[in-house]
Amino acid sequence: MANILIVYSTTDGHTLSICRRLQRVIEQQAHRVELASVDDEPDTDLQRFDKIVIGASIRYGKHRPQVYDFIKRNGKVLESRPSAFFSVNVVARKPEKNRPETNPYIKQFRKKSSWQPRELAVFAGKIDYQRYRLRDRWIIRLIMWMTHGPTHPKTVAEFTNWEDVEAFGRRVCAM
Ligand SMILES: Cc1cc2nc3c(=O)[nH]c(=O)nc-3n(C[C@H](O)[C@H](O)[C@H](O)COP(=O)(O)O)c2cc1C
Repeated sequence: MANILIVYSTTDGHTLSICRRLQRVIEQQAHRVELASVDDEPDTDLQRFDKIVIGASIRYGKHRPQVYDFIKRNGKVLESRPSAFFSVNVVARKPEKNRPETNPYIKQFRKKSSWQPRELAVFAGKIDYQRYRLRDRWIIRLIMWMTHGPTHPKTVAEFTNWEDVEAFGRRVCAM
C-alpha cells in the first residue's frame, strides 16, 4: 500500500473534482490518498508520501504561478519518488490537442519546468458561463466562438473524459 499525495491548483473547482475521482480510483486499489491545495502546501510534509501527483488548470493561457513555485520549492522530493502531472484546459476538448504530446499547455509546462514527472496527462475541463464574472464570460465566449465551441450564455459543458481520468489513476497506482 502506498501513501499518495495529490496537490491541486483550481479556480472554479473542476480540477478538484478530477482529483476526487482519481482519489476514488486509487483508493479502490487499496492505496491511501490525501488531497491538498497548492495554496495550503506549507502545512503538508511531502516526505510522508511515496508518490506525488500535481494537477493544475489553465486560466488565460497559464497554469497559476503557485504551481511553479510549489515545484521549485519541492524539486528534490518530487525527483526522489514517482510523480505525475496533469493539466486541465478546454483546448483539450479537441481530439488533436488532448494528449500530452499535442496539448500546448503541457508543452508550455515542460518548457517552463525542469521537473520530469514519470506520468503526464491532460484532461478537458468544464465551461459554466453563469459562474464567471461578466468580463470573463465574454472573453471565454469569444474564444469559444473562435474555436467552434458552445457560446450560449447559459451553457454548462463538461468536456472531461472520465474514463481517461480513471485510466490515469490506474497508471499512478502502477508507477
Ligand atoms: C477566465 C477563464 C480563462 C480560461 N482560459 C483558458 C485558456 O486560456 N485555455 C484553455 O484551454 N482553457 C481556459 N479556460 C478553461 C479552464 O481551463 C476550464 O474551465 C477548467 O475546467 C477550469 O478548471 P478549474 O475549475 O479547476 O479552475 C479558462 C476558463 C476561465 C473561466
